[in-house]
Amino acid sequence: MQTVGTIAQVRAWRRSAGGSVGLVPTMGYLHEGHLSLVRRARAENASVAASLFVNPTQFGAGEDLARYPRDLPRDQAMLAEAGCELLFAPSAAEMYPAGAETFVDPGSVAAPLEGERRPGHFRGVATVVLKLFGIFEPTRAYFGEKDAQQLAVIRRFVRDLDVPVNVVGCPTVREPDGLAMSSRNSYLGPAERRAAPVLYKALQVAETRWHTGVRRAAELQKLMLEVLAAEPLAQVDYAAVVDPETFVALSGAIIGPARLLLAVHVGRARLIDNLLLPGPPTS
Ligand code: PAJ
Repeated sequence: MQTVGTIAQVRAWRRSAGGSVGLVPTMGYLHEGHLSLVRRARAENASVAASLFVNPTQFGAGEDLARYPRDLPRDQAMLAEAGCELLFAPSAAEMYPAGAETFVDPGSVAAPLEGERRPGHFRGVATVVLKLFGIFEPTRAYFGEKDAQQLAVIRRFVRDLDVPVNVVGCPTVREPDGLAMSSRNSYLGPAERRAAPVLYKALQVAETRWHTGVRRAAELQKLMLEVLAAEPLAQVDYAAVVDPETFVALSGAIIGPARLLLAVHVGRARLIDNLLLPGPPTS
């Protein structure tokens, strides 16, 4: 696998690649979740590329930009092993040269939940992802459902701005105890790590009750909050039941599909997770 740092090098590679190109954007410190996207891209495209860029415009003041975990040699080895051919690992100056001042302003899907807690976050995500689409011109781009609202924001700007790329959503990869894999799990101390699967446990309790016929959004939300409240190391940021496309909070009885979403502080890590409840059968 080749690692490059400039946009010109990516464009040269793209010209020589020919055929379909699958792109996997990342911020590095890779794990099996990222690699599942690379393998899917490998299976579906003639060529596979990844990007590694800890994008400053999607971090708020006081967030973890400076201490975000990094290990380029390890990431390179993992990507090569998974079948990635090109890694684009640019500097901040390459991505945002002096004077860059144009941003993507995502719409209503970016407003609640993560958008409300992290002002400007999705503006930064949408901008860097659109730039990566312009740099790589990928046939397909791969994103995890782990970051469900991010995936919805990306799908929406691709549609609204007529970006010629197929956005592929991929299932969340979990540790054996249910914790969704995340680069930020490295912030967890041993006791916090033992507490962290409580997010998935809360989602599963609500899902189980949904399968037994519970349909009221408020009741599902309450169930998740009860499970989280029983874990002293967990501080809830939000527990929500939303429309999977618009991310508008659902109220009353759920008729169509719904997404359960959690953001929870465990120690100094802020963890997110979610689960899709399918709609009723349509026969
Ligand atoms: P990062 O957090 O590194 O994640 C890169 C991609 O991996 C995202 O699409 C994310 O949803 C996916 N991913 C993370 N954990 C996963 C898991 N456990 N299972 C499946 N997929 C998982 O998300 C970002 O970077 C950035 O915001 C980015 C899109 C690169 C823009 O800067």
